Amino acid sequence: MKKEFPLGLSYDDVLLEPRYSIIKSRKNVSLKTNLTKNIKINLPIVSANMDTVTESKMAIALAQMGGIGIIHRFMTIEHQIEEVKKVKRFTNYIINNPFTLSPEQTIKDYEQLALDTGINGFPVVDKNGTLIGIITRRDIAFQSNKNKTIKELMTSQSKLITSHQGVSLEEATDLFAKHRIEKLPLVDKKNKLVGLIAAKDIRKTISFPDASRDKKGQLLVGAAIGVSGDFMERAEALIKNHTDILVLDIAHGHSAIAIEALKTLKKKYKNQEVIAGNVATPEGVRDLIKAGANAVKVGVGPGSACSTRIVAGAGVPQLSAVLNCSQEANKSGVPIIADGGIRFPADVVKALAGGATTVMLGNLLAGTDEAPGVIINKNGRRYKFYRGMASFGANVTRRAMDTDDNNLLYDNLMIEGAEGLVPYRGKVQEVVDYLLNGLRSGMSYNNAGTIKDLSKNAKFVRITENSLKESHPHDLAHADNAPNYDVSGF
Ligand code: XMP
Repeated sequence: MKKEFPLGLSYDDVLLEPRYSIIKSRKNVSLKTNLTKNIKINLPIVSANMDTVTESKMAIALAQMGGIGIIHRFMTIEHQIEEVKKVKRFTNYIINNPFTLSPEQTIKDYEQLALDTGINGFPVVDKNGTLIGIITRRDIAFQSNKNKTIKELMTSQSKLITSHQGVSLEEATDLFAKHRIEKLPLVDKKNKLVGLIAAKDIRKTISFPDASRDKKGQLLVGAAIGVSGDFMERAEALIKNHTDILVLDIAHGHSAIAIEALKTLKKKYKNQEVIAGNVATPEGVRDLIKAGANAVKVGVGPGSACSTRIVAGAGVPQLSAVLNCSQEANKSGVPIIADGGIRFPADVVKALAGGATTVMLGNLLAGTDEAPGVIINKNGRRYKFYRGMASFGANVTRRAMDTDDNNLLYDNLMIEGAEGLVPYRGKVQEVVDYLLNGLRSGMSYNNAGTIKDLSKNAKFVRITENSLKESHPHDLAHADNAPNYDVSGF
């Protein structure tokens, strides 16, 4: 059989030729993009479905900025649902089923409910659900008799500011500003409690105008499922709990098992958005799209914690994979997510110029406050732990979820991932800003007002090892200690 050896290129093998640009300021570019065929987000950043990267905290932070997080699947279904719920509840400024107290209950009951929920103010309703007052921590301050009833201490209905269920964000904001209240109960015509707005939630909503939201105003969130075992049960629970996007998570997505799983999923949930992957070839993209994928994740082995290429010898250098795959995906308008291997802002620019509509990040986000895990101090520097999902540690953790037999924990493990420390990087917002500033700059060099224009206008030039040396800061003393997020500081 005749073997061919086509050239495969990575981000470091190319640069983008500067084009004549009419972009006046980096601020004038739009970073809006498609995550899937039907879901748009405001910036092209997706956090990886890895257990050291994305749980609810990361998903909330990214969705607030305009990106999205994919909650990993290496936990029980119940736990994953809880994580999804935390995101969906986060900026839902209308609370549809608020916790309430009845007038006959006591301070003791208030304190217990406050402790259980972490909330400090509750509407008070009678047996029919009619609003008769509100009770807050201020009302019970300095009360030594804990058996006093709520009725004796609450602010009664006649003094309350209330509104109706269809109240807009603007109307609600005006009421909070005018009356300096912290809680706004919503009632129907018969004065029955139908919802509640908390000032805290309004503040959160207003300060993130670009947030990725669903039709109800809740933050968008994705969650990963596998391709076997409980995957349909997990999918059903996630869909029931309003997960916006499912990610079919398998290292070799161009496989019969992945395609079968995708078909089964799409047959049962035709309208559910599903990202499938990972693949690295146009054939892989074509087959996943044919099976119903709404977006395809591209990347076999480029990730910083991947060892697939040195274990299995499988993979395609990431820029070539993105270029080849996006050409195939463009035929049907299905977006490509460039997953893995992003180290610098320029890599984001090159991935999008190569035709991806978003990038998925593991390593760069794993060192942030919002990633799971603690900060580790070592030799005066701060780090966080990061691991590939096929690493030794991740494999063992997964086994431990399935078996109580310690002898089986280490039996015949398939290790295709690495684990280690990544520098602590503060708030995820700082990392995202760093990447997006680079992206905006890259777009302006390419005369691109939009991400679509970037891939249309891009002209790659292949470089040599010497040019790569020239590209990085050089001939400077102590460049490694340069402050801020310049390339050497990262
Ligand atoms: P970065 O470069 O951002 O890549 O750290 C994140 C992506 O790496 C993939 N991933 C793995 N690949 N073995 C692999 O070959 C692994 O153990 C592993 N864990 C994660 C995944 O696609 C992720 O989004």
